Amino acid sequence: ALPSVLVALVSYLLGSISSSIIFTKAFDNNLDIRTMGSGNAGATNVLRSVGVKAAIFTFIFDFAKGAVSVMIGRAVFQYVCTQAAAPLIVNPHVVAQYGAYIAGVACVFGHIYPLYFGFKGGKGVLTSAAMIALIDWRVFLIVIGVFLALFLTTKIVSLSSICAAAAFPVATFIITFFIDFRGSQVSAGPVPISYVWVTTAIAFCMGFVLIYKHRTNIERIKNGTEKKITINHRT
Ligand code: G3P
Repeated sequence: ALPSVLVALVSYLLGSISSSIIFTKAFDNNLDIRTMGSGNAGATNVLRSVGVKAAIFTFIFDFAKGAVSVMIGRAVFQYVCTQAAAPLIVNPHVVAQYGAYIAGVACVFGHIYPLYFGFKGGKGVLTSAAMIALIDWRVFLIVIGVFLALFLTTKIVSLSSICAAAAFPVATFIITFFIDFRGSQVSAGPVPISYVWVTTAIAFCMGFVLIYKHRTNIERIKNGTEKKITINHRT
């Protein structure tokens, strides 16, 4: 239990560093990104309301904090496995994956509800993408494929994010059930069926939260007023 709490806490604190707020203040006269454009504290809105440079910094930072959190979570749980007194009855790969999930979820939670910025953060898209990429590249390929298919045809980031978020639990189930469980392709040994259900449930809840955070975007998409991606050149 202690490693889980530690991993979750560190990841939440890392996720709470809202880079869009910080870089907007730095690049644009101390302004708050949450009062500009769509009001969202995320890279898309920084690109729309501030400029390319601040958006690139935000993009890299928000992705990196998700990736670093997952790496920390995995490493801590791997270490715990090596320290176990009795021989493990569970596959250590599965244990490490759970560490990664705890870290990823806590980091995304911190991004959406940041401790240092009045609990008003972004929608968690980039940080979730980093989490998925580091946890399972096969799931990531499906999710990013859905995102790009939508983005290249509509140029609307929110719509692409919503569809990718919906694809996340579906992709997780397909990969963990048909390949990890049924195919036992994981080099470290087969996974139990509980792994399929737990990871799919986490992905489902995360997908739900991501879509819920896009509810004003959904209204605009329905009204036909949601904007395509735009680049600001003020800064
Ligand atoms: O990254 C969030 C994106 O999906 C939508 O951002 O600013 O258009 O609400 P925004």
